Amino acid sequence: MSQNGVSTSNAIFEIGDDDFSRFSEKPKPINIERKRSFDEKSFSELSITMSPRPFYRNSENSSRVFEPVDSIYSSGGRSGFDTPRSENGFETHPIVSEAWEALRRSMVYFRNEPVGTIAASDHSEEKLNYDQVFVRDFVPSALAFLMNGEPDIVRNFLIKTLRLQSWEKKVDLFKLGEGVMPASFKVHHDAVRNAETLVADFGEAAIGRVAPVDSGFWWIILLRAYTKSTGDSSLADRPECQRGIRLILSICLSEGFDTFPTLLCADGCCMIDRRMGIYGYPIEIQSLFFMALRCALQLLRPEGEGKEFIQRIVERLHALSYHMRNYFWLDLKQLNCIYRFKTEEYSHTAVNKFNVMPDSLEDWVFDFMPAKGGYFIGNVSPARMDFRWFCLGNCVAILSSMATPEQASAIMDLIEARWDELVGEMPLKISYPALEGHEWKIITGYDPKNTRWSYHNGGSWPVLLWLLTAACIKSGRPQIAKKAIELAEARLLKDGWPEYYDGKTGRFIGKQARKYQTWSIAGYLVAKMMLEDPSHWVWSHLRKTDKFVPESKDLHPGLADHFIYLLFLFCQLVIL
Ligand code: GLC
Repeated sequence: MSQNGVSTSNAIFEIGDDDFSRFSEKPKPINIERKRSFDEKSFSELSITMSPRPFYRNSENSSRVFEPVDSIYSSGGRSGFDTPRSENGFETHPIVSEAWEALRRSMVYFRNEPVGTIAASDHSEEKLNYDQVFVRDFVPSALAFLMNGEPDIVRNFLIKTLRLQSWEKKVDLFKLGEGVMPASFKVHHDAVRNAETLVADFGEAAIGRVAPVDSGFWWIILLRAYTKSTGDSSLADRPECQRGIRLILSICLSEGFDTFPTLLCADGCCMIDRRMGIYGYPIEIQSLFFMALRCALQLLRPEGEGKEFIQRIVERLHALSYHMRNYFWLDLKQLNCIYRFKTEEYSHTAVNKFNVMPDSLEDWVFDFMPAKGGYFIGNVSPARMDFRWFCLGNCVAILSSMATPEQASAIMDLIEARWDELVGEMPLKISYPALEGHEWKIITGYDPKNTRWSYHNGGSWPVLLWLLTAACIKSGRPQIAKKAIELAEARLLKDGWPEYYDGKTGRFIGKQARKYQTWSIAGYLVAKMMLEDPSHWVWSHLRKTDKFVPESKDLHPGLADHFIYLLFLFCQLVIL
């Protein structure tokens, strides 16, 4: 719905109330009663200390875009959403305006139009590819602009990257799938011809020559965010956009030798874009895949080829959620189960289906696992479970509702219980624990950038704040995000917005971290804005017809029988 081209809806992402009957009814926000006292307390406390959307430049537009409907936390005293700052005496943290200025300085123009933001504006370090617009890096920038009522840069970005997708992509003599989206692009200025062109990288120039599997997923997710935020579905409805979505999905949904619904990937194919032992079925990709599939269901027109894709997506979601919720989930109970696994079971009734050796459980897992809590582990494949914690995959699992509400709560419990390890002095650990010694040598291939507790190997990345905040809001635990944001606020500006921090607790600015890393800046702004106005996130209806919810009882022994649990499962759909 749109008024004067501006959406009257609230959430940036509202992955509809029912992916399967989206054409029949409008979603209604539900007033979540569970954990009521805590939630209300949390939000009323927040509302006292934080400003109501103090960032918006275009206040007329933005107040419409984000006007709260029956706010989920309405009784917590958040009545002053649109009240001017002066009337409430709210204070904005001084680094917010600095962050906005830095974000604006990072904008990249192509033929006088903004098309993205540069990865980092650090002139003291060698540029490598940090002078490019990365698809994944642009996502938090895009969300910040959308929340601020500035959708043009996002629209331009979506259109330009869609054009890049249609390029022929080759690494040496080998052609990549048509649907592959670029990892990054830059604007090339030809001084002689006085012309500008875009130059993209699909992995053929990337360190390690890996294609970015996540780029296409982020593109779909962003298209959904743009559509939701502006209420303008004309972009997504364009035949070329519909085709772009189908091309991305074609490479993921094709049938082959796969025995699992998860997506088989090379190492370094996502945010962790160097060898880190994430090859196989990395959690980051599986969560993004799930989220992108759900967004695509909302975006695809149900006629012609779209109809067939919708059917394939529904089937894949069904299988994928079953697989992830069953086999990637680890809590104390499951850990004990794996600890007692028998091996070499050949039959349909095998308990240890992937023939995982209990001896592969390392000591740290037993120490790390709290009595209350759990998480999706890094990877599951034959005889291999990577028990490491990966932040992005777990947060996106919550946002996409790949995690059941129970699992989402358990992830939050784990973050609280393991605060020192996962947040420490600077949010947030990208992975835990770090690989060291012999393991580091074998798994990273002696990578000097990925030494223990640095960069992708247990480094702390401020950009992950926005994902944590979104996940906290969705699971009704905003206080966790608030604490994390305060930690980041104390240092980010002073330290020059580093890309990542090093050390067990994230005390040191990363040894090769770029300064003025745009997604550190944007991630902070998005986190801050979401906490101030949680109505960017809308809980929609759950329905019994949500077909991809697994039917198996062993999904969550004891819980699957609870009608109320299933009801939540059906009704609590993603919001990003
Ligand atoms: C690093 C990160 C990658 C990011 C890029 C640009 O390579 O690992 O995730 O996209 O920098 O910031």
